[in-house]
Amino acid sequence: MSQSNAAFQSVPAASDATSLLCCAPLPNLLPINASRGQAAPPDQPAAQSTVLMPWVGYGTYRLGHKHARAAVLAALQTGYRHIDTAFIYGGQTTELQVGKAIADALQQGIVASREEIFVTTKQWREYHGYEQSTKCLDLSLERLGLDYVDCWMMHWPGPCWEHKPPQSPENHDNQSQQTLEQNDSPWAHAKAGMGQSEMAQLRSETWRAMEDAYRCGKARSIAVSNFTIQHLQTLKQTATLWPPAVNQIECHPYYPQSELVEYCQREGIVVQAYASLGGQDGTKAKWKKLGGKLMESAPVVDISKRLSTAQRTVTPGQVLLRWALQRNCVIVPKTASLTRMSENARVFDFELSQQDILQITKLEDNAVGDEGRLCWRTEPLRMLNFS
Ligand SMILES: NC(=O)c1ccc[n+]([C@@H]2O[C@H](COP(=O)([O-])OP(=O)(O)OC[C@H]3O[C@@H](n4cnc5c(N)ncnc54)[C@H](OP(=O)(O)O)[C@@H]3O)[C@@H](O)[C@H]2O)c1
Repeated sequence: MSQSNAAFQSVPAASDATSLLCCAPLPNLLPINASRGQAAPPDQPAAQSTVLMPWVGYGTYRLGHKHARAAVLAALQTGYRHIDTAFIYGGQTTELQVGKAIADALQQGIVASREEIFVTTKQWREYHGYEQSTKCLDLSLERLGLDYVDCWMMHWPGPCWEHKPPQSPENHDNQSQQTLEQNDSPWAHAKAGMGQSEMAQLRSETWRAMEDAYRCGKARSIAVSNFTIQHLQTLKQTATLWPPAVNQIECHPYYPQSELVEYCQREGIVVQAYASLGGQDGTKAKWKKLGGKLMESAPVVDISKRLSTAQRTVTPGQVLLRWALQRNCVIVPKTASLTRMSENARVFDFELSQQDILQITKLEDNAVGDEGRLCWRTEPLRMLNFS
């Protein structure tokens, strides 16, 4: 096992841990020889990882800016110590609310110190490039009211899908995410004709900004999101610090991305699964095509019934979260409901069998139709060889 893999650990067995504080160590960033893309020589001892990330985080996408502050505070009260947010969430309003919730939690003594909370935020794709990314992080820190984040992530490998010069974050404040999603179709980008190598270059400039943010302590770890194997391999060629701590990817039984998960884990990159409950962007038509929502699918419901006892009901949502954890993926489920916050946190007191895992993973077969994979957002981008 290479040094960068050394910190990789499996999710604790049910008997070992019952707490939201149960953590995965992140890999240490090591200098790499950029010209050869090789890891540092093996005689350099790997330092013990000092960055620990709780296996269960709290997702903040689509919390709604009116409710985000109260919801994040409630999550901290419930015991969550890992908050996943992004520059763009809530049309750039969520980070501010997350920051206020953290301040509330400190003031009310719900957490004793900032260091108790693992905060992730993500650089937005309109700000690719060294200068723009650095500004983007500074703005995120200002909104969060923090001196550093525990993890700073490149949200998407591609730059703004329309080929237009990046705007300054300050001028961007009034644009809603909805507007951006409409403008930034991959087709618009493909038409604009930005080449693969131009995009790879821009992405490597962003990574350089991330390396510097790590070196100067504004980010305790740096990471990527929505990266394919090819994105990772290309970025490694120009990186001076490697590997990214995390690759946060869409990952659920309809889209398990098994090859990518295995690749990342072999390389010592922690996989964070997003949309592990099926996500929030499905339409009725999509679910119908897939044969139903994940939480209503036969194997998930059957397994939850089988594992339930008179003392303890195991819900379909918990089965899906446990499926992700047992694939050694960190999870960041989002819920605005207090009951479901507790439910999603209670995933360490039961285990799925190998048979259960295989049965659930087979749901992927439902998700591949005549038109290709009937999946949510990542697949159309792959088909276009996006970025
Ligand atoms: N890197 C990226 O590009 C990216 C993309 C998407 C998401 N993410 C991150 O990943 C997080 C999670 O993904 P997601 O928010 O898309 O989807 P998700 O966590 O899979 O699903 C959230 C949805 O499930 C519902 N829900 C939550 N817990 C439930 C339970 N126990 N039983 C039944 N329903 C439940 C929620 O509704 P209620 O709120 O009503 O409970 C919400 O509609 C995001 O919040 C965000 O932080 C990252």
